[in-house]
Amino acid sequence: MGVQSEIKRLTVPQLRARKGQEPIVILTAYTTPMARLLDPHVDMLMVGDSLGMVVYGMDSTLAVTLEMMIAHGRAVVRGSERACIIIDMPFGSYQESPQLAYRAAARLLAETGAQVVKLEGGVEMAETIGFMTRRGIPVMGHVGLTPQSMNTQGGFRTQGRDDVAARRILADAEAVAQAGAFSLVIEGTVETLAREITSRIPIPTIGIGASPACDGQVLVIDDVLGIFTDFTPKFVKRYADIGSQISQAAATYASEVRARSFPGPEHCFGMPVPRPPRAPYER
Ligand code: KIV
Repeated sequence: MGVQSEIKRLTVPQLRARKGQEPIVILTAYTTPMARLLDPHVDMLMVGDSLGMVVYGMDSTLAVTLEMMIAHGRAVVRGSERACIIIDMPFGSYQESPQLAYRAAARLLAETGAQVVKLEGGVEMAETIGFMTRRGIPVMGHVGLTPQSMNTQGGFRTQGRDDVAARRILADAEAVAQAGAFSLVIEGTVETLAREITSRIPIPTIGIGASPACDGQVLVIDDVLGIFTDFTPKFVKRYADIGSQISQAAATYASEVRARSFPGPEHCFGMPVPRPPRAPYER
């Protein structure tokens, strides 16, 4: 019998089985050091295409490329050992046909080591989700506010506020689940709708701006830490203000360099570090 390598990461079946159980905890990550810090605390790390906005300063996610996702996906896989890694399929890499979507998703998984791909869309993506899952690619769906559709949704706006829109999103969620997705992000929608979707579909729902009725939650790490401050959606809770600390550290460094007080002797080679004066002998 061959020696089986120990699987340390949480698996898709383990997470799928958490429906209605202990909430699934997800944060985004885009770099190795951040993945190292977050890995012990979360169930999944999401390499979101939000990186276009929070890392690259773009004003939407539309210009994010497969190559960018692959580079950041590799970095996050390298920095983690326990979390299951989800990687976003960027705009234009999957909408055209199930075959193109499969090829792009296969590249994302094969070239990064991530376990799951996420794509946006509902009824119109069901065929693609079925095609991919039947061929071994675990898919996380994403309905409600879908940032890649900002041009048709009229910006980043809460979705499903009236009955017609809510019924459409419910149909999207059901289509994604029936097609074989193993979990579903619900973004930017009202509590009643998130609760109804969660009770109707058999796969875990992950909320972002969709209330605690969901089976898990995800947030963008730069929002959580107060690093991305261009705008803060209502659904974000800021757990730290690292942005101010970075700014304070840079200001102190700059003033010490200008005053020639950094580097000090303790940071230099071949410069004696002055010893503290000896305490006088006491009787
Ligand atoms: O791109 C992203 O980070 C996302 C999550 C916020 C759900 O899609």
